[in-house]
Amino acid sequence: MDKKFKRTTVTAALPYANGPVHIGHLAGVYVPADIYVRYLRLKGRQVLFIGGSDEHGVPVTIRARKEGISVQDVVDRYHYLIKDSFERFGISFDIYSRTTSEVHHRLASDFFRKLYDDGKFVEQVSEQFYDEQTGRFLTDRNIRGECPRCHAPEAYGDQCEKCGATLSPEELINPYNAETGNPLVRRATKHWYLPLDKDQEWLEKWILQEHKEWRSNVYGQCKSWLDGGLHPRAVTRDLEWGIPVPVEGADGKVLYVWFDAPIGYISNTKELCDARPELGSWETWWKDPETRLVHFIGKDNIVFHCIVFPAMLKAHGGYILPDNVPANEFLNLEGNKISTSKNYAVWLNEYLDELPGRQDELRYVLTANAPETKDNDFTWADYQARCNNELVAVYGNFVNRALQLTQKYYDGIVPQCGELTDFDRETLSEFRGVKERLEELLEGFKFREAQKEAMNLARIGNKYIADSEPWKVVKTDPERVKTIINISLQITANLAIAFLPFLPFSSGRLFTMIGMDATGNEGELWERLGSTDLVPQGRLLPKPELLFTKIEDEVIAAQVAKLEATVRANEEAAYKAAPVKDTIPFEDFEKLDIRVGLVKACEKVRKSKKLLKFTLDDGSGQDRTILSGIAQWYEPEQLVGKRVLFIANLAPRQMMGEESRGMILSAVNYNGDLSLTTTMGEVKGGSQVG
Ligand code: MF3
Ligand code: ZN
Repeated sequence: MDKKFKRTTVTAALPYANGPVHIGHLAGVYVPADIYVRYLRLKGRQVLFIGGSDEHGVPVTIRARKEGISVQDVVDRYHYLIKDSFERFGISFDIYSRTTSEVHHRLASDFFRKLYDDGKFVEQVSEQFYDEQTGRFLTDRNIRGECPRCHAPEAYGDQCEKCGATLSPEELINPYNAETGNPLVRRATKHWYLPLDKDQEWLEKWILQEHKEWRSNVYGQCKSWLDGGLHPRAVTRDLEWGIPVPVEGADGKVLYVWFDAPIGYISNTKELCDARPELGSWETWWKDPETRLVHFIGKDNIVFHCIVFPAMLKAHGGYILPDNVPANEFLNLEGNKISTSKNYAVWLNEYLDELPGRQDELRYVLTANAPETKDNDFTWADYQARCNNELVAVYGNFVNRALQLTQKYYDGIVPQCGELTDFDRETLSEFRGVKERLEELLEGFKFREAQKEAMNLARIGNKYIADSEPWKVVKTDPERVKTIINISLQITANLAIAFLPFLPFSSGRLFTMIGMDATGNEGELWERLGSTDLVPQGRLLPKPELLFTKIEDEVIAAQVAKLEATVRANEEAAYKAAPVKDTIPFEDFEKLDIRVGLVKACEKVRKSKKLLKFTLDDGSGQDRTILSGIAQWYEPEQLVGKRVLFIANLAPRQMMGEESRGMILSAVNYNGDLSLTTTMGEVKGGSQVG
């Protein structure tokens, strides 16, 4: 870290309290932030890790209406659920508060008022859509109407899902309130804007010239915003839920959620420092130029943290600006987008309940597969493979061998290290540069590579023990085995230290297994990373346990099945019956000859994946052959003896070298699955249907 900084304020994006947090949030924001903060603490740096729930904005109000409870109940429910899951998962916030706190309301309100008093806003009256029956203005997503392009009847105010067009609400034909169906009118309303166009110049210099070291995805996104030219942004909204605009004549208006939420970082710091005077004044953490500010966020938050919030801080004056904003790309799940509203996610609280004691496994996989430079995919198969082939088979296996051999040969007493061989020296030399390499990667926000480096130590250890073969050497040279085991235990201690920022739970357990009381002196330990005298000769080690255990196939299958059930439920919920075809006269219907057929035989059609060949008793005394494309859904044997409905007077058709005389009727389910039709009672073959 740059010498000019004395301390670091680390923030992690405040999650909306409209649902639990999921693995996408964890991989993108909280795991990397936690690794970074744990590392800074190990280095003995002054650091605060600030988190909290984002409890304003439209998302929480939508959730409330969906669940039929008050907004306050929604944010209470999810705030405590999220806070508790973070704690159980080992995300080591110094504070996790919320934007509905009193401290925050006051601070955000004062912040706005200062900008207002200093004339930093532009006031502007514009026409917005208004529902006269409910007396409410509507946000883009809550407005629906006919698409001006494809004329789909239910396009959203910001997008048509039918043709994909990006829209603005004014373009919709006959706009209406998505919830009530009420027609909308335009009504003038006043709002306050942050004139970002005036910030263009300094932002360009500050980001494009002075922060070339930012991640290329972050830098690139900022550049494209700046190249497009900045425009004034409204920082107030016509809504009931939020922080009231502290200005006369602003009844029914609140601060825009993206105005108040980032101020939440400051409010939460204040709440923390006020409660713990030894941390100093909150202002030191936000105003002293010797403080370094780092924001951990996902890529959808880049513009707010790199452009809007800095512009707010600068307009207010007295605040430092972020030194880095290591934003991640997105994590997908089994090839699909994670979605809170569609319930398609691996939720942290459920993971903790369903795979108890496996925090580090998830931390490991999310970091190994972190979306640092591009979107990545989480799959349960990959989770299982990484846990079993890396944590269990490499790290766990090495540690277990070292500890078990100590028990077996020396009753758990650490043996003496004798003379080193070339192989010993070679192995140990790999550890010398580790601390420096890890530090460089961690300071550069390259967590994925950093963890790989730590895992590489375990590989070296594994190879060391495998190649030294103490179980063989013990028969010929017992003195040599003492050295091998001693070195293996030193490697074990190094692993526990190196993994501290990444896998804190297992490092803790491993310290216990090698008789090290690490609590409170992890920093000293970090300093000694790479040394080979961490576990003293003569120490009695407790009986070891397994550091990691295998993830069984059933566990994975259950998780995959759960996701598939969600996808199915969503498809079902989204299904809308096709519109009814044009009306026909009764005579047209009478032309169709629908009958009951008794299935006498049924078999697969050669070279066809789709077709089954039916032999029906159609009452004529002669067999009737019909081919039907339902092989994907039925085994032929199960259909013999069943009754089916078929059209008897359809012109015969040649299919796969067979003549098909008629058509068997099937229902098409919402997902395209076919289901044969039959009769409720036992009706004779050939009976007419009508
Ligand atoms: N709640 C926002 C989201 O989930 C993030 C807010 S970050 C803050 O996208 F800076 F505004 F706090
Ligand atoms: Zn359209």
